[in-house]
Amino acid sequence: MVRNRSEMGRTFFFIKPGAVKRQLVGEVISRIEKKGLKIVALKMVELTQKEAEELYSVHKGKKFFKELVNYVTSGPIVAAIVEGRDAVNVVRRMIGATDPVKAQPGTIRGDLGLDLTDNVIHASDSKENYLREKKIIFPEVGES
Ligand code: CMP
Repeated sequence: MVRNRSEMGRTFFFIKPGAVKRQLVGEVISRIEKKGLKIVALKMVELTQKEAEELYSVHKGKKFFKELVNYVTSGPIVAAIVEGRDAVNVVRRMIGATDPVKAQPGTIRGDLGLDLTDNVIHASDSKENYLREKKIIFPEVGES
């Protein structure tokens, strides 16, 4: 369906090292594609400490920051930009609450995770954070 361009949006997410190790990449991407979001960019990378600290700069100073940075740099992640109607909010609703114990069944974290740090997936929570986060992994993708 052709939609008004103003309704379209993009968001950034990455599948965390634990979920990559558990071979959940296909499961997670499949859910997002089936919802109707289109993959614009996709890559598997190992984050450097600097990139991880930048990605999570909003949490700097919190007591879980060091553990979080150590965890996301512990193995490859799979990062993506997807596009569709109200993408930021749609993906945030699909991933569920931060703590997988509290995430509703039917959500990605609610169905596939149990640990707060190793909570399967991270996704941008606003357009502003999308632009900031995507630049770290996909500097070659333009802003739109
Ligand atoms: P994410 O959406 O990637 O954003 C920040 C991450 O910090 C969060 O998911 C969790 O994996 C992790 N985290 C660890 N401890 C906490 C905590 N007490 N509150 C919020 N996030 C936490």
